[in-house]
Amino acid sequence: MIELSDSVDFNKAPSREGTNAEKYVKREKLFGSEEVLPMWVADMDIETPFFVIDAIRERLKHPILGYEEAPEKMFEAQMAWIQKHHGYALQREWMFYSPSVVASINMAIQTFTQPGDKVIVQSPVYFPFYSAVTNNDRHVLKNRLLEKDGYYEMDFDALEASIDERTKLLLLCSPHNPVGRVWKEDELQRLGEICINHDIIILSDEIHSDLVFGGFKHTPTAAISKELQARTLTCYGPGKTFNMAGLAISTVCISDEALRERFRKVYKSVHFAEGTVFGHVGFEAAYSKGEVWHSELISHLQGNIDYLDLCLKEYMPRISMRKPEGTYLVWLDCRSLGLNFKELKRFFYEEAKLGLSSGMSFGKEGDGFMRINLATPRSSVEEAVSRLHRAYASRSF
Ligand SMILES: Cc1ncc(COP(=O)(O)O)c(C=O)c1O
Repeated sequence: MIELSDSVDFNKAPSREGTNAEKYVKREKLFGSEEVLPMWVADMDIETPFFVIDAIRERLKHPILGYEEAPEKMFEAQMAWIQKHHGYALQREWMFYSPSVVASINMAIQTFTQPGDKVIVQSPVYFPFYSAVTNNDRHVLKNRLLEKDGYYEMDFDALEASIDERTKLLLLCSPHNPVGRVWKEDELQRLGEICINHDIIILSDEIHSDLVFGGFKHTPTAAISKELQARTLTCYGPGKTFNMAGLAISTVCISDEALRERFRKVYKSVHFAEGTVFGHVGFEAAYSKGEVWHSELISHLQGNIDYLDLCLKEYMPRISMRKPEGTYLVWLDCRSLGLNFKELKRFFYEEAKLGLSSGMSFGKEGDGFMRINLATPRSSVEEAVSRLHRAYASRSF
């Protein structure tokens, strides 16, 4: 029996100073000062679960860290987790180890498109979706999400109208970073029909699929229908949920044999080998021991989100948010502040001393927004609110 309550404290705030944590190391470069409270990169300032750390410690008892084969137990643990949490039965032969979802996206672009082809992204969206396309000399076909009162929906009509014979692949962010939507089954169905009708392959990035709040349910794109499954690649990983992105381990799952064999050619050419010694044991421990920790994490994150929402409503009504359905990222609507892009950054970085992601980094549709990462101890959210309020009150908004 795991004595969880003795071991887990989501409000413990270990300092990351002196580690190579990107979120901290880049403060000066991105925000002009080491004094900002960094709430940008999507990892957590919450301890990686003890059972992941314990598995690594256990592995370290053996003194050789040579090449390893990715163990079957690791894949089995993820398959069981996805079956339990999302009701979707993966098969082992569909799965490839990948060091990162972004690497998988790049490989999918290289496999299923040619230079000059178009790849659909639904903006605003996680910025590597754009760079993966342009770095491979393909064109981004933007399908802008429709926004009403902070709620985002897909624009199916515009999507259908924009597709032409060079459009080959759609990058789907599900749940969606940064707008926090958990796509509903009927939305995925409609999107899928369009892709089927126009022979478009889907890469469904489901890295945030375990970070979904009460009342919402993640639906794997590939679970919608056999037809859709046959044209979908799905990326899953424990990096976000269990705060272990530094272990560089994820999977990409492709059920269709022909697509899988095409992908395998590119996959072999980059030679990822089989993953890392610590990644293997951490991955297996996360998916096989993470049940209770995960549900406590969701409650903690929900508390942080509710707290920020109340504070904004009460003290800073010109900054609004819609609570995310999924992800620990909150999309702050700052349009009522009446600041342009540069002024908004100055307000957050220099006056409030908060290192947040600028909405514009997710595409120009993000103008007037900032993204804040709430995967922190509560004390950091309180500190962020107090810094923001001080800056807000000193202006006459
Ligand atoms: C939607 C999405 N996909 C992928 C990633 C990164 O995943 P990885 O580190 O496995 O490349 C992130 C990280 O923020 C993300 O938000």
